[in-house]
Amino acid sequence: MKKRILTGITTTGIPHIGNYIGAIRPAIKLATETDESFFFLADYHSIIKNKNPSEIKSSVKNIALAWLCCGLDPEKTLFYKQSDVPEILELTWILNCVSSKGLMNRAHAYKAAISENELEPDKGINMGLFSYPILMAADILMFDSTHVPVGSDQIQHMEMTRDIAQRFNHLYKPILTVPESIIQDKEKVVPGIDGRKMSKSYNNVIPLLGTEKELKKSIMKIVTNSLEPGEPKDTDNCSVYELYKNFADENEVNEFKKSYEEGISWGEAKELLFSKINKELEPIRSSYNELVNNNDYINDVLSDGSKKARQIAEDKMSQIRDVIGITKIS
Ligand code: TRP
Repeated sequence: MKKRILTGITTTGIPHIGNYIGAIRPAIKLATETDESFFFLADYHSIIKNKNPSEIKSSVKNIALAWLCCGLDPEKTLFYKQSDVPEILELTWILNCVSSKGLMNRAHAYKAAISENELEPDKGINMGLFSYPILMAADILMFDSTHVPVGSDQIQHMEMTRDIAQRFNHLYKPILTVPESIIQDKEKVVPGIDGRKMSKSYNNVIPLLGTEKELKKSIMKIVTNSLEPGEPKDTDNCSVYELYKNFADENEVNEFKKSYEEGISWGEAKELLFSKINKELEPIRSSYNELVNNNDYINDVLSDGSKKARQIAEDKMSQIRDVIGITKIS
């Protein structure tokens, strides 16, 4: 059987180095090694939390740009916006009707949200948040994806997707492909400039699409300890070292480690880190500069992708409608 990978990217925030190391770079590499790949911008997922239309809009553009500039090849990978394939929402409803509420009650994101409320557990929780995993299941099951690359925070959503597919297949006919997960960030936490996990919500990110100057500035801000030049330094729990490992080969990492033992100064270590990251980001930055004002190009790529995706989705939907009895009177 052909391998078909599919993954969605929620369109919130601006892409950072953590996204690049943990999701973008490995997914693009995987796409080059796989028969078929579908990557899409999960814009309907993003309106669950964000009600600011201009932020949504600019995030969709920046994230599309990030993937294209990092080497996503739209000739090889179907690249589209979820909202351009409205059949996904149709499937979402159908899957709603085979998903048990109890299953959704157990979702980590929902449980975390209610645990913050004291008197009224569901205060401030919209139905989109509650049924988030069902929209995600529709994204995946619509296209008979065999493998789904995700971060480890999505493991439960993937189990729910499999559960929902099996339930549908059992109730009707086995026409939905039950997908496998590919966990991309196994045991890998990318530290931000304050040493905690790099995340928009901690305000500690190194931006992916910034200028060279901005890159240097955030690297120089990485928190280290107060050891002086000449004093040996430990690579354990060192953000500079952890980041360096993601951009260098084994020999270079060993050299870097040795320089720690020999007492490299934090300034020099950061300088080395900067030049490593910068070297990898240079081509990405130059294609960003080329494309950032070319909205037509981005729109064309996405509309091309959605045309192809829709064709597949329409065929799948007619099969699905048929097995559930939503069909011509006969
Ligand atoms: N929930 C995913 C995340 O936050 C994004 C997503 C939406 C997704 N639909 C998907 C990932 C389908 C994989 C497949 O990372």
